[in-house]
This record gives sequence, C-alpha cells and structure tokens, in this order.
Amino acid sequence: MTVEQLAIAVDDDPRYSGIARLREHTRFYDAVIDEVDGRRIRVGEHWLTDWASCNYLGFDLEPEIIEAVEPQLRRWGTHPSWSRMLGNPGLYPLIEERLAELLGAPDTLVLPTITQIHLSVVPALAGDGTILVDARAHKTIWDGCVFARGQGATVLRFRSLDELASLLPGAAGPVLVCMDGVNSMTGNIPDLPRYLALCRRHGAVLYVDDAHGFGVIGERRPDETSPYGARGNSIVRFHGESYDDVVLVGGFSKAYSSLLAFVAVPTVLKNRLKAAAAPYLYSGPSPTASLATVLAGFDVNADRGDKLRADLHRMTMRVLHHVRGLGIFTPNTDDTPIIELPIALDRDLVEVSELLWARGLFVTLAPYPGVPRDQVGFRVQVTAANTDAEVDHLLDVLSELAAAEVFQPVRETSAS
Ligand SMILES: Cc1ncc(COP(=O)(O)O)c(C=O)c1O
Repeated sequence: MTVEQLAIAVDDDPRYSGIARLREHTRFYDAVIDEVDGRRIRVGEHWLTDWASCNYLGFDLEPEIIEAVEPQLRRWGTHPSWSRMLGNPGLYPLIEERLAELLGAPDTLVLPTITQIHLSVVPALAGDGTILVDARAHKTIWDGCVFARGQGATVLRFRSLDELASLLPGAAGPVLVCMDGVNSMTGNIPDLPRYLALCRRHGAVLYVDDAHGFGVIGERRPDETSPYGARGNSIVRFHGESYDDVVLVGGFSKAYSSLLAFVAVPTVLKNRLKAAAAPYLYSGPSPTASLATVLAGFDVNADRGDKLRADLHRMTMRVLHHVRGLGIFTPNTDDTPIIELPIALDRDLVEVSELLWARGLFVTLAPYPGVPRDQVGFRVQVTAANTDAEVDHLLDVLSELAAAEVFQPVRETSAS
C-alpha cells in the first residue's frame, strides 16, 4: 500500500469519515484566523463571533496575565527543554503547591497535557486490573484505556450508574472507574457523590477528568456569586467530597488559557508516577510562557475569578433561557457554559454550518462519532470575555434557525 492509499483508507474509515467530510466541505475546520479582537475573530475579510473558545474566564485576553509572561521569559528563557525528570524551573513547585491549596487536594503533579496524563497515568494505575469506563468519557480517556489494555488491563464500558453497579462486584482488582467531570459534549455535571459511594463500597478508585469544570465550578459557599460555586476549584469541591479514593485530572488549557495539565493525588502516588509516567520522564515540558500564565491566572482567579464566573453564569443563562424558550433540545440540563444544539435529523451539518458562517458565528461542529448519531449538531461555549451584544446577536440567529426548523424540538433526556 502506498502512503496515498493509506490516506484514502483513513477517509473511508467510519471512525474518521464524518470529520473528513466536514474538513472538506465546511469552513469550520483548519480555519486560519487572521485577527482577534476580544471574542471577535477575522478570517479573510469575514468577521465572526467566537463561540468555540473554551477560554471560559477570558484569561487569554487578560492584560495582567499577558504582562506576567515577559519577566519570566527573561528569567528562565523561552523553554526549559529538560524533561521534568531531569530539571524543573522553580515555577513548577510554586504551581503544584498553589494548585494543591486551591483544590484542597493532598498533592498535585503537572504535565503538559491531559492527553499525556491519560496515556500514562491510567495504565500505571490500572496495571493488570480492570478499568470500567463511562461510554461518554472523553476520547482521550479511551485512548488511555487502550494503552492500559495493551499493558494487561481489562477494559469494560458502562452506560449508567446501574450498569456500573452491576459490573463492579465481578471486576478483578485493582479497579479504576474512569469518567468525565463536566462532560465536554453535554455540559452536564455527573452525580459524583453517588459514583464515589459506589466505588468506595467496592474498593475501586474513581478517576475523573474535569477539563471543563476546573476554573468554572467549585466549592459551594453562602457567599458564592453564582450556582457554579466559588474559586473554580473543580468537581470534587463542587460536590463537597473528599479526595479519598479519587484521582482528579484537569487542565489549564480551557479556563486558564494555558498549556498545562494536572493530576491530583497523594504524595506517595505522585512519587510513584514520577518513576512510571513517560511524559514526566521523557517528554518535553510546557514552555515558560505557559507556566507564567498559570501562576498569573491563580492571582487573577483569587482576585476576581468569582466575579468572572458570575458574569459567565449570567450570560450562559441568557442563552439557555432563550434556547429553552424556543423549545429547542439541548442536552445541557446543568447550566454550564457548554451548550450543544443537535440539529434536526433531516438536516445536513455542512448546510447548517454555511448558515452559521454567513450569520457570523464561529462554533464547534459536533459530528458523529464524537457525539451519538441523533445528537449531531454544533456547540456554543460562552466565556466571560463575551459581551451582551454578542449574546443578543447569537439569540437572534438561534431564533431565525429555530423558525427554519433547523433544530430538534425538546425531548426527554436520559439520566446520566
Ligand atoms: C474532557 C477533556 N479531556 C481532555 C482533553 C484534552 O486536553 P489536553 O489538550 O490537555 O490534552 C479535552 C480537550 O478538549 C477535554 O475536553
């Protein structure tokens, strides 16, 4: 087979063909952005509002964070280059300590990406035991499970809490239960206390990827500025749970607008991972600019994060009230800023994407198999850097598309 024939085989593979078709026929793939102005972006001559950003707190545009980069570059150079095993600029222990304090977790280990964490930490924890993975878990968790299977673990899928309960008694240990925190597709927040109680009853460890919750949801307090809670310290604190029997994974590439990720674990496990996780041992580290923006992000989060989250919640609710008022189906029942809008089953996503582009909306397209076939559509993410005028415009376009029957009418959602 030639390399060109291999390329055709990839295009014909049902796992990739939906995305390959969108790449070929829509403007929402591989877009080259020529200019950024707040949440407005220019592609060629065409200005769009960016509803695809996951920079939930608007830290990508925050002057205080931008200004924090240069002094650190002058001090440390652009990139440490050592793998973390070899050497770490002093920024690392600062980040890991501040993060542990924010999360209220025993300790943390940071690596460049969540993908790297799943690929290395899931196999290290599972060994030749059993991984029970939520059917709707993020693709990168699944990739970690495939790696773990290659190293001797058994991987089984569950679709509901009841199914998990039926699988746990027969699972050979060590048992790892893997799932998303705030789900990247539906925006919903799982009932962590129930999953955790089940895991604890069966001696299993719950491994949670809260990429979209970290920075957005956090500890509940009487003085919280929104139902997202306070401090953005993620799903374990949001539910008032302890870190016993939990491995929390999260990242800075969404709410903190930086390239870094973390796993929150007890120090004894952190030290074991320092000997077992390939990205710690052998991969290049995050650039200095990313470490600097994380540290400055902690300061801004402490200073005005809760105000930003109040704004984020308020604008998100404007969109969700409108969507619900129009009778449009969205799987989002938990009011997070991830709003997926499946299109009617007789609509074509390429055609809908053209309408969105023409109306000046830049969104995340959601093709199969990233979402179930009956939820193909697009997602908008609200960020604190959006404006009310941009929300007004979004609502107008959604009304227009709803009148043209582009969306699915409200239906019953299945319980998570
Ligand atoms: C739930 C979830 N996990 C992991 C990732 C990947 O994160 P990273 O870019 O840090 O590898 C994403 C990114 O979109 C995500 O949504």
